[in-house]
Amino acid sequence: MSGKLLAVSDLHVTHRQNREFLVGLWPDCHEDWLIVAGDVAERIADVEWALRLLAGRFERVIWAPGNHELWTTKRDPVELRGEKRYLALVERCRALGVITPEDPYPVWTGPDGPVTVVPLFLLYDYSFRPDGATSKAEALTIAYESGVVCTDELLLHPDPYPSRDAWCEARVTETEQRLSRLDPRARVVLVNHYPLIRDPTRVLRYPQFAQWCGTDRTADWHRRFNAAAVVYGHLHIRRTTWHDGVPFMEVSLGYPGEQRGIGQYTALCRVLPRETATC
Ligand SMILES: [Fe+2]
Ligand SMILES: [Fe+2]
Repeated sequence: MSGKLLAVSDLHVTHRQNREFLVGLWPDCHEDWLIVAGDVAERIADVEWALRLLAGRFERVIWAPGNHELWTTKRDPVELRGEKRYLALVERCRALGVITPEDPYPVWTGPDGPVTVVPLFLLYDYSFRPDGATSKAEALTIAYESGVVCTDELLLHPDPYPSRDAWCEARVTETEQRLSRLDPRARVVLVNHYPLIRDPTRVLRYPQFAQWCGTDRTADWHRRFNAAAVVYGHLHIRRTTWHDGVPFMEVSLGYPGEQRGIGQYTALCRVLPRETATC
């Protein structure tokens, strides 16, 4: 096997330019795998369209949900909210052969393998608080007073959980147990829409937005679970930073105005093999 483990996130195919980009996107080897780390689109039919197209071109597609897939908007005939919406997305993915966080983790056996690829769905819990805030309530007050508030507050419903942070708590606990059952010698690529540590959010233009970008509870997962790499998106700041010797790769395509310098051939980040890794 000589393919590559590739990654992208934040395809946002509701934007015509991004849709056109996707239509022109082909692997250069039929053994390539593609990680899609969330924010494909808001309407379920658009998510399905994009993942169907990719599943037909790449040997394997692995998806982790972003916040945009979980929005319930008036423009989507699918009115499901919260966990039911997530599970409906999982079902659509399975019908397309796309791997979700609910499926057995696939093992990459190509160059630099074997590596277990682990798509995660964890959400956030307002623990990445801005300076001066000691609670979720204080963090939200700072955000509302500054006018910088994530649209999730209106559109990402946590049903049946009482809050998004309660949903996050349940997901983190369940996922942690599942990861603890992996062979401790196995190397993993952790794939999450949000960074697993706070550090990458320090460069946000609006620091108060970080509260919608992850949870402190995953701060040591890259060490605990033997990560060869961590792949994430959401920030729309494509780059690789290194933490404890582990590359954290932000792989966003992002909105049309944010793609300067991202050409057709560099649009997919290379996770493995390591010597040709780019992001
Ligand atoms: Fe995004
Ligand atoms: Fe996002």
